[in-house]
Amino acid sequence: MDSAPVQIELKTVAKTYGDHNVHALESVSLSIVRGEFIALTGASGCGKSTLLNIIGGIDRPTSGSIFFGGQDLAKLNDNDLTAVRATKLGFIFQFFNLLSTMTVEENIALPLELVGKSSASAVRKHVAEILERVKLSHRAKFYPSQLSGGEMQRTAIARALIHSPELILADEPTGNLDTENGTIILEMLQQINADDKLTIIMATHSLEAAAYARRNISLKDGLMISQIGA
Ligand SMILES: Nc1ncnc2c1ncn2[C@@H]1O[C@H](COP(=O)(O)OP(=O)(O)OP(=O)(O)O)[C@@H](O)[C@H]1O
Ligand SMILES: [Mg+2]
Repeated sequence: MDSAPVQIELKTVAKTYGDHNVHALESVSLSIVRGEFIALTGASGCGKSTLLNIIGGIDRPTSGSIFFGGQDLAKLNDNDLTAVRATKLGFIFQFFNLLSTMTVEENIALPLELVGKSSASAVRKHVAEILERVKLSHRAKFYPSQLSGGEMQRTAIARALIHSPELILADEPTGNLDTENGTIILEMLQQINADDKLTIIMATHSLEAAAYARRNISLKDGLMISQIGA
């Protein structure tokens, strides 16, 4: 582990889903340093999405704590948790989760509109820069239904980056793409991690995808079973 400060610290995080008493996470303790690129791997049902959702404040742990920027997310009220998500986090999902009635540029601008601090011209300029970065300037006015899968995921990456988050969470970002487009997305994530020193945590079934990360963490039945890398 390098000497950069710890950005995220999980202490004995557990998650039980009440309805069926499923122990999705047993007890996960983990320190993450700013600028890491981590892959969470393991079989279906091992707890990857649950862990990502808890780190991202989408879900709350049953017990344990998650320190992010000095705050324990498990103790924040809903409004404060929403504010952390809106300002500090970017999410990328397997099924892209783009809004079908909005164009590519409108989808990408959404996180800035939600935070509401930028003027219309600043938003336009910022969207144009990000579109260039994900090589989608020629698709700005397209709707999601008019895009290929790879283009949809590049739109989602742009949307995740637009508000300069401190952490990107990606849940199976290549799960719905062919190998060629999957590779483009993984190389893009790797580049963003290297250029922006932006922390990325990615859940994936695929060991080929996990190889793009610098640290691999394997889960089994809600427990971390091994770690490889920095
Ligand atoms: N809302 C819920 N209610 C009950 N059980 C749940 C709920 N969400 C997840 N689980 C259970 O928790 C366990 C972990 O689920 P999770 O979605 O984290 O797995 P995963 O590793 O992401 O799997 P996959 O690779 O299939 O996406 C699974 O056994 C799942 O059935
Ligand atoms: Mg999952």
